[in-house]
Amino acid sequence: MSLKKRYRPLWVILHWLMALLVFVTFGIGLLDLTKTADSGAKLMPLAVHMTLGISILLIVIGRSVLRLLVFKPPKRAASAPGLHLKRPPLLDQLSVYVHPLLYLLTALMALLGIAIALPADLFAAVLSGSATRIPSDFYIYSARTWHGTLSLILMLLIAQHILVAVFHQFIKGENFLGRMWFLK
Ligand code: HEM
Repeated sequence: MSLKKRYRPLWVILHWLMALLVFVTFGIGLLDLTKTADSGAKLMPLAVHMTLGISILLIVIGRSVLRLLVFKPPKRAASAPGLHLKRPPLLDQLSVYVHPLLYLLTALMALLGIAIALPADLFAAVLSGSATRIPSDFYIYSARTWHGTLSLILMLLIAQHILVAVFHQFIKGENFLGRMWFLK
């Protein structure tokens, strides 16, 4: 495959690292934090969730700066001859909006998390390991409701992203995932 049509190794690393971190952070939020009582048992998952969430924010900022200042990732390769005559499915057409929204929403998720953590003094709580500093109800902070709602919207966008990749890779037979990997 032409080098111009593939992503640079740094871009590939950041993409898959980000995917992994978002899934793990989302998983801890949904499957652990929401199921654990607001007590000392929440300290460890909260510390991991907050650390990963802030790492995600730093990666989103790094990727945006790279994209704006250093290099633009290559445009999607043209479809095989004949295949592009038909209009792409609606789900695929949405990609042009979904891509920037993925950046925006992941950053917003992390900022909303910080907007819960600051007034709730969660950084001090997890650093000191003090169970008494865990709030008895996170929903008294308005950012908590937004953080939960936005997490579901983010997952819908990620589902679109994955379905489009599967469509191109396996139904259209294009080496879509190969572009986002290191192989020549
Ligand atoms: C992109 C990054 C993030 C993702 C995908 C994410 C995802 C989630 C999810 C899915 C939940 C459960 C929501 C629900 O079901 O209502 C949650 C809860 C929470 N998250 Fe995040 N989060 C992120 C970043 C952060 C950051 C950076 C912080 C703080 C610094 C944070 C703090 C919290 C807190 C305090 C809760 C509520 C815990 C509770 O109610 O017990 N999150 N997060």
